[in-house]
Formats: sequence, structure tokens, C-alpha cells
Amino acid sequence: MSNVAEKVCVTGGSGCIGSWLVRLLLERGYVVHATVQNLTSPINLSDECRKLNIFAVDEAETKHLQALEGAETRLHLFQIDLLDYESLVSVLVDCSGVFHLASPCIVDQVRDPEKELLDPAIKGTTNVLRAAKEVGIGRVVVTSSSSAIMPSPSWPADKVKNEDCWTDIEYCKQNGLWYPLSKTLAEKAAWDFAKGEGLDVVVVNPGTVMGPLISPRLNASMLMLVRLLQGCTETYKNFFMGSVHFKDAALAHVMVYENKAATGRHLCVEAISHYGDFVAMVAELYPDYNIPRLPRDTQPGLLRAKDGGKKLADLGLEFISMEKIITDAVESLKSKGFIS
Ligand SMILES: NC(=O)c1ccc[n+]([C@@H]2O[C@H](COP(=O)([O-])OP(=O)(O)OC[C@H]3O[C@@H](n4cnc5c(N)ncnc54)[C@H](OP(=O)(O)O)[C@@H]3O)[C@@H](O)[C@H]2O)c1
Repeated sequence: MSNVAEKVCVTGGSGCIGSWLVRLLLERGYVVHATVQNLTSPINLSDECRKLNIFAVDEAETKHLQALEGAETRLHLFQIDLLDYESLVSVLVDCSGVFHLASPCIVDQVRDPEKELLDPAIKGTTNVLRAAKEVGIGRVVVTSSSSAIMPSPSWPADKVKNEDCWTDIEYCKQNGLWYPLSKTLAEKAAWDFAKGEGLDVVVVNPGTVMGPLISPRLNASMLMLVRLLQGCTETYKNFFMGSVHFKDAALAHVMVYENKAATGRHLCVEAISHYGDFVAMVAELYPDYNIPRLPRDTQPGLLRAKDGGKKLADLGLEFISMEKIITDAVESLKSKGFIS
């Protein structure tokens, strides 16, 4: 255990990746301030509650967090709105680090991209960083995505994509790819802020994250797997770059936080692969499901690479294989009743 009683904040702590990160941080002895979003039925908090830091939260959203080992004494839950700066400052006070995960993760079409994706991602990130700067946070880990690395059609065809590669903003705008646009602009805003204000920021760029669910709701990547098991033929041409286990995504965040020598972006995938490779392995492991036959090359121009997550591997992360990611994810979906 490295940081007994060090206080850190996890925005988006109720989400699929956030829950795994909260669990890992509690296991390592941290005190964790985890945020959940003010959901559909806002709970009006009295001023007295605010003063006492008693925040009412939607129990269904947080029961799984409160059941984690160490949660009783070292987990504190807060309701926040990423667009409400003051709500963020109050959560970050006394913390030495922040993991900023909260961001809408929607790859399906949205009606209002500005409101549903771009504002919470970009303004939300800037607000978290401003609040972190105001209260004197030491290091902020920002959860970006492989969606801030691709689609990048102008990247040299003979060069494996890596952390130097950025998603093509104009291509996203022209093709209505709002999620990659939101993650790319949010990450760019984070780097601009870090440079301009001298804040210590480090970034993790996970690929498609899957595995056993701790949280009660499905995220976009687990939903993708459910749809595949039901026969969906979508190829996620502009979205897929490789897969990563929930456990490794969480561990990557902790590693780049604790290792002060870690700098810049960190692509977090067990390998750079095509969705077609993933689908073929699901079909092989689960022949009883109606898995569609897709071409192997579903991501035009994407070169495969076993060591796509090299920067994290150099920090000591031993990536869980695609086979185990799939079996852990499918068995979890079965046991929780999402598929039969
Ligand atoms: N899933 C993947 O494959 C993947 C891959 C790469 C990167 N990422 C990134 O990882 C992060 C977590 O994703 P996830 O897969 O764990 O998704 P998730 O389960 O949907 O979690 C998203 C979290 O963000 C919170 N959030 C969203 N909008 C918010 C807002 N306006 N104000 C406050 N909180 C807000 C959600 O709160 P509520 O639950 O209360 O709504 C939830 O806790 C995101 O930044 C996502 O872009 C995900």
C-alpha cells in the first residue's frame, strides 16, 4: 500500500470504469471522493445538508459502491454537475489528486450534440481542471479515449498509430462523429489548460473497455457486446482500436497517478486490433450465439500491433488478453441477466 489515507477524487465514480477505479483505490488505502451526476430526478439539498457535506444520492446508482470493501469509512459520495463549477470545488477540497472520468459516453446518434456530448465533455473537463488548480491539486489524471487518437485518416498508412496521433476534427464534424469529437476537444482543452496554468495533468486513452460489471448499468462498450451477441452487424468503423479489461483500465489510471515519471498520453489497449478480430474471437468462444460473420478488416487503414499499450507496459502493466476480456464480460452479462 503506497498512500495510506491520501484523499483523491474520482469524477464519474458510479460509472462502469469509475466503479472499478474506486474499488482499486479503496483496496490501496486511499480515501475516495466519488462523484455521481445529478440524475433525472434532482434531489433538492438543503443548505444545512450542503454545510455538513451530507449529499443525497440516488441509491440505485451507488449501492454497489457502498458495498465495496473499505467504503464504509473511506468512501464519500457527492452529487455534481460538471457544468456547475462550485459543485466541483466543494468535492475537491482536501484532495491531493483527481481522476476525471465523468463524461457522456454515447456512440449512438444524439439529437443535440452540443448539449448531450460536447458541453459536458469539454466545459466539464475545463471546470474540473480549474477547480483542481483553485484548490491546489497535485496531479490530475484525465480519462480520454482511443477516440481522441482515431479516426485519423491522414496518419501515414505504413505507421502504427500511437500517442502522437490525434483524431481528425474536421473528419468528425463532416461525418457527425460527436463522441470522438467530444473526447478529442476535451483532451485538447486539458492539455491547453495544463500548459497555460502549470497544472500537472496526465492522460489515459482507453480502447473499448469491457469485463465484469460492478455497476448496475451497462456502458456503451458493454452494450456493444450485448448487441453483437444478438447478431448486430455494425462494424464501429470509426470507433474501435482495440479492447481492454476494466481491471487494466483502472490500474492504468492508478499507475500514471502514482508514478510521477509518467507523462503525456497513454494508449490503453491489450493490442491494437480490428473489431473484426474481436468479433471472430467472440464467435469462436461462444458458438451458440448468433454472431454475424464480419470481414476481419473492419477499421480501414488501422495497422495491428501487439504492443499498442507499450507506454503502460513499460510502467509495469501486464495487459489481460482479449480472450479473457471476452469471457469475463460475457459471463458477467449472463450472471446479471443482460443476456441469457
Ligand atoms: N467504455 C469505454 O469503452 C470507454 C473507452 C474509452 C474511454 N472511456 C471514457 O471513460 C469514462 C467513463 O466511461 P464509462 O465507460 O465508465 O461510462 P459510464 O458507465 O457511462 O460512466 C460515465 C460516468 O460519467 C458521469 N457523467 C456523464 N455525464 C455527466 C455530467 N454531465 N455530469 C456529471 N457526471 C457525468 C456518469 O454519471 P451518471 O452515471 O450519474 O450519469 C457516469 O458516472 C468516460 O470519460 C468515457 O469517455 C470509455
